[in-house]
Amino acid sequence: MKTAKRLEGIGEYYFSQKLREIDEMNKAGKQVINLGIGSPDLPPHPDVIKTLHEEALKQNQHGYQNYKGSPVLRNAISRWYKKWYNVDLNTDTEILPLIGSKEGIMHICMTYINEGDVVLIPNPGYPTYRSAATIAGATIIEYKLKEENNWFPDFVELEKVFDTPKSLPFGGRFRGGLMFVNYPHMPTGKLPTKELFVQLVAFAKKHNILICHDNPYSFILNDSPMSLLSVDGAKDVVIELNSLSKSHNMAGWRMGMLVGAKQKIDEVLRFKSNMDSGMFLPVQLAAARALELGPEWHSEVNKVYTKRRKKIFEMLKILDCSFDENQAGLFVWASVPSNFKDGYELSDKVLGDSNVFITPGGIFGSAGDKYVRVSLCSSEDKIEEAINRIKIKVNV
Ligand SMILES: Cc1ncc(COP(=O)(O)O)c(C=O)c1O
Repeated sequence: MKTAKRLEGIGEYYFSQKLREIDEMNKAGKQVINLGIGSPDLPPHPDVIKTLHEEALKQNQHGYQNYKGSPVLRNAISRWYKKWYNVDLNTDTEILPLIGSKEGIMHICMTYINEGDVVLIPNPGYPTYRSAATIAGATIIEYKLKEENNWFPDFVELEKVFDTPKSLPFGGRFRGGLMFVNYPHMPTGKLPTKELFVQLVAFAKKHNILICHDNPYSFILNDSPMSLLSVDGAKDVVIELNSLSKSHNMAGWRMGMLVGAKQKIDEVLRFKSNMDSGMFLPVQLAAARALELGPEWHSEVNKVYTKRRKKIFEMLKILDCSFDENQAGLFVWASVPSNFKDGYELSDKVLGDSNVFITPGGIFGSAGDKYVRVSLCSSEDKIEEAINRIKIKVNV
């Protein structure tokens, strides 16, 4: 049987393909150091694991769960949003726990996109926005983020999408649509400003757009987490995805959330409740515990990333890459030296010569072609070893 049309143009996720290649290299004894993927290698807080353990031992915790998640978890999310982002969320109506924020991207596309509807996605940006929107049948319009514009959207360019009939596949002025936004931005590590957030909300209101702000990195190497929902009136036009994957070292637990106005939550739930059931209750209760952790947790985690980042800077200097030292999130984004055609060439060379994998920026879109992205999710020792391997090759 042939695959469905909606999968046309959807390839295997770059990393699953690359991981197979790295696997083959490891089987051949190469011991590749993988500085590609942003999966935190450190464990969650011990109290979180203890809660999971204790709750899982109880007799009555193993049944199907409410589609909207446990009230304990929704309460914890509501308090967490107030404490860190100063955003008020109604516990019963404005929060939807998710099996990681990645699934939320798909649910949102399936909830709002009809065949041919426009979805605005950042270039460079998280590849899932494109694939989820494509599967849902969207017409994708990329908005380019450029280093010279601080990796912020160029609103003058964006306005042209609305003003120039030619830029639209179906002709005529574009009204409505969905736009993915993500700050701190992955892959560039760019932090948002309040002005940017205010501008985005005004833009969405002007053009009747629904913005989905994807916010999983706000606690990593950043002392001032911000939510797009903190802008006055944002709930009219913004929904926000968030996640414990990075902030609480719980990537494998699959714990995320969608927050926003009741109507939007209800709409997405109409789709999601037909796809899956509520998460395992002990996981939800342990996640609620994680959300109660204080600033000490984040500063401990960030101390580790700060040390690693220093080493990654050292590595990138050896490779003659240039970068902004003020980046947030789990990666360092760096531009490749001019003797390399692009980040793919540099990544292949480092993998071939030194058995170290760094991600070519082009997988995040054409605007990332001249860059590479290096993950902070390996120990200092591993990064040190990567540096030594690279040094040997660069010096021959
Ligand atoms: C920008 C961005 N959004 C979402 C996700 C997915 O996170 P989760 O683990 O919550 O599904 C990632 C993970 O790498 C990401 O980089």
